[in-house]
Amino acid sequence: MTFEVTPFDVKGTVNYNRLIDMFGAQPITPEIIERFEQVVGVKAHTFLRRGLFLSHRDLDILLQHIEKHGKHNIYLYTGRGPSSMSMHLGHYIPFAFTKWLQDVLDAKLVIQMTNDEKYLFKDLTLEQVQLMTKENIKDIIAIGFDPKRTFIFDNINYIQHLYPNVLQVQKHLNINKLQSTFGFNNSDHIGKYMFPAIQMVPAFHTSFPTFLKGDSLCVIPCAIDQDNYFRLLRDLCSVCNQRKPVLLHSKFLPSLGVGDKMSASSGDALYLDATKQQIEKAIKRSVSGGGVTLELHRQHGADLDKDTAFQYLKVFLEDDEELKNIETEYKAGRMLTGQVKQRCIEVLQSIFTEFQQKREFITDDLYNQYMTEIKP
Ligand code: TRP
Repeated sequence: MTFEVTPFDVKGTVNYNRLIDMFGAQPITPEIIERFEQVVGVKAHTFLRRGLFLSHRDLDILLQHIEKHGKHNIYLYTGRGPSSMSMHLGHYIPFAFTKWLQDVLDAKLVIQMTNDEKYLFKDLTLEQVQLMTKENIKDIIAIGFDPKRTFIFDNINYIQHLYPNVLQVQKHLNINKLQSTFGFNNSDHIGKYMFPAIQMVPAFHTSFPTFLKGDSLCVIPCAIDQDNYFRLLRDLCSVCNQRKPVLLHSKFLPSLGVGDKMSASSGDALYLDATKQQIEKAIKRSVSGGGVTLELHRQHGADLDKDTAFQYLKVFLEDDEELKNIETEYKAGRMLTGQVKQRCIEVLQSIFTEFQQKREFITDDLYNQYMTEIKP
């Protein structure tokens, strides 16, 4: 079965092991998770332990850095392309993980809003993307990043600071590379060709000269489809005299229906502004791996890989023991689909409620604090 993953499109059924092989990334193994726990001195996040973050580039270099220098001079970089008024549960994952990393690494964090990207790649006006940018920034703030150590910027307004690095990168990127990496063709407009450098350069600490120091190491948590940018960039680091960024890649969150990736375009995404009733309805209608009849279910049990509610519990249910119990019971056919879905509904409702409460209380002052460069 063939599949294709670019930042702009995911086709076919993704074979993740093959994908990380093709990308030339390293799998996140139990050994490296254990080393992370030892070096950083914390229990690994569920997203790591449960395999949602599946691969990396140079995580060992990050761990060596911490062993040698402590947590100094590390910064995190991630981003969001605002293409809808509310983010969905799939978008939430890299941000929730980044928040945890910020806490355990005491790190500064820069968040790029690629409003330019969405204007160029989607059928949206500049006014629309700017409105979406503002709403998405509020979603991101509600994840709970440390306002003193987080800087959110949008490309349309911050471009002058990125531009010197963008120029250096653009001088070393040719059309062939961009076509083969991103799937662009000869009749694509030139905006598409000039954009990738803009997403790459926040990985150079010199894009933030007022608050990042000379030897800062960049760590990028992202969904694996964003690797294309940074794979290209890492090859240019030595000619640009920059340090290679470390990457941590996540899988996609499965969709509610059939499909590997929750996406707005397939129309079955769970948006972070969903009400309790909407969550309930969505999960009740989601694809089940349970037996078709009660009898068959009791006999053969559930196919957990196909079961959306179970897959979401695997991601979002914190309690390891409870998850293990659900896994055993459901697989054996003793637990029923309805019960698993009900638990999934509760878990999601509590995450969404906490998120929505935080979002409601974002003042202009707080918003502006995140949009102002970090104090050195
Ligand atoms: N292109 C990403 C999106 O469409 C946004 C983004 C910008 C990003 N910079 C990033 C994502 C760095 C991960 C890491 O959502």
